[in-house]
Amino acid sequence: MSKTKILPIVAYGDPVLKRVADEIEPDYPELGQLVDNMFETMYEASGVGLAAPQVGLSIRLFIVDATPFCEDHPELDGFVKVFINPVILEESGKKWPFNEGCLSIPAIREDVFRKPKILIEYYDENWELQEKEFDGMAARVIQHEYDHIEGILFTDHLPALKRRMLKGKLTDITNGIVDADYKMRFPK
Ligand code: NI
Repeated sequence: MSKTKILPIVAYGDPVLKRVADEIEPDYPELGQLVDNMFETMYEASGVGLAAPQVGLSIRLFIVDATPFCEDHPELDGFVKVFINPVILEESGKKWPFNEGCLSIPAIREDVFRKPKILIEYYDENWELQEKEFDGMAARVIQHEYDHIEGILFTDHLPALKRRMLKGKLTDITNGIVDADYKMRFPK
């Protein structure tokens, strides 16, 4: 296998982030290499999740490594996973807020309400079909990344007034006027 590569992260405003991504087949070219590159890219940017659209590929694939949350959430120890063609089958419980960020939207964090429990079906990195329940922070990280392959960003969950207040900052990001300490690709 060739050396892993850090990929530029696509910034807010790129149409790829608004597209509903396509399923992939097991013969997708160099999938293992892509997954390795995505992990390298995510770690370089200190993220806990990264979806393929964020590296410019409109396919139903995302990765998570929530171990940085492990001090406050010990159940996340070793929570490193690859999700291929996932389908959230069920979401349940009373919505709870958490201050979310996104590597495609640097320097903005806002409270997002999500349900605490999910049932998800997906293929893992070995193309084994899995059906699993996740809750709390694990569920949240998955829901955020799952949104990405549905063309949804965390800002889409915010109340209209809040979104309007962020509009200037979001436009700045699209125009490349933002400080991120990792490699990004801007639509303009
Ligand atoms: Ni994100």
